[in-house]
Amino acid sequence: MRKEHSAKLHILRSLSDGAFHSGEALGNELGISRAAIAKHIKGLNDWGVDIYRIQGRGYQLAQPMQLLDEERLTASANTQVELISVINSTNQYLLERVSESDKGRVCLAEYQAQGRGRRGRQWVSPFGTNLYFSMYWRLDAGMAAAMGLSLVIGIAAVEALEKMGFEGVKLKWPNDIYYQDKKLAGILVEMSGQAGAAAHLVIGMGLNIGMPDQQPSIDQPWTSLNQVSNGQAIDRTQLAIHLIEHWKSALEEYEMTGLSGFVERWNRLDNFLGRSVKLLMGPREIYGVVKGIDQQGGVVLETESGLETFIGGEISLRKHD
Ligand code: ATP
Ligand code: BTN
Repeated sequence: MRKEHSAKLHILRSLSDGAFHSGEALGNELGISRAAIAKHIKGLNDWGVDIYRIQGRGYQLAQPMQLLDEERLTASANTQVELISVINSTNQYLLERVSESDKGRVCLAEYQAQGRGRRGRQWVSPFGTNLYFSMYWRLDAGMAAAMGLSLVIGIAAVEALEKMGFEGVKLKWPNDIYYQDKKLAGILVEMSGQAGAAAHLVIGMGLNIGMPDQQPSIDQPWTSLNQVSNGQAIDRTQLAIHLIEHWKSALEEYEMTGLSGFVERWNRLDNFLGRSVKLLMGPREIYGVVKGIDQQGGVVLETESGLETFIGGEISLRKHD
């Protein structure tokens, strides 16, 4: 996989200085023809990179691009970190390696060819502009504890963003991060392991940072962290390091004390607290006002029949104005 993409990655590194590079110069650097360069540029467009060509000058990136810095990542994160620039899915990569992984192992990518969300939905993952990463964790308490874990990870992510100065970022039960009622990031917890035994979990997050404007395949309102920071430059490497650290310490706390220390923290950050929502559960729709989460991580609604708690992976929450 890595070798196959090395020409494209080389071209990107050259273009990331922001200047024009002629097809001929790029071809000379790589020892390939101008036609082969043109083909790679087309492939980069398919990865979601916006590159244009001006006759007589060559190729240029439409937006500046700062690639993730593997050296800084591995030196600063207090866990095993791998950067695989082009991958199918960082969750899939770690799921295939659970038996040989230590807790806390992380995989990051610049581009996912098959990034996924819940229930097989696609996670749009253009190259070099957002964050896509996953962490392996083992829960000796077994699968039952996995529900709480997706909440804990969301809390840790928003608190990390707050520490870095991003304000107004919120949570949507059970696994999304929102800003101004739009989806900023999604969390996906997947597991392998039999009931009753320790659960092998892979927790993945896709966080939009500078997503290009046109995204026809996203069918709901979405946003990017550069909207939160008012266009101020964001150091993706530094952000990844902070998120990884916060995740690890939140997971350690969760293992020791369960959800108890997290309920208040969730409720402070809940985007829908006190608001009318509907829950979609297969064919059923339930309307109510969000009251927060309970000690098990279920969402509590005030419905026509009083306070009711809902929990389970098949539930989707939607706002209801
Ligand atoms: P729920 O789990 O409540 O049904 P959801 O509709 O957000 O939430 P998920 O499966 O969690 O569904 O997330 C996948 C959905 O997220 C996709 O169907 C798409 O609409 C949207 N999506 C895909 N890529 C992105 C992205 N990069 N940024 C924001 N939203 C995205
Ligand atoms: C969702 O909202 O449905 C969750 C989206 C999770 C996307 C991340 S990106 C890194 C990791 N690898 C994947 O294929 N999915 C998760």
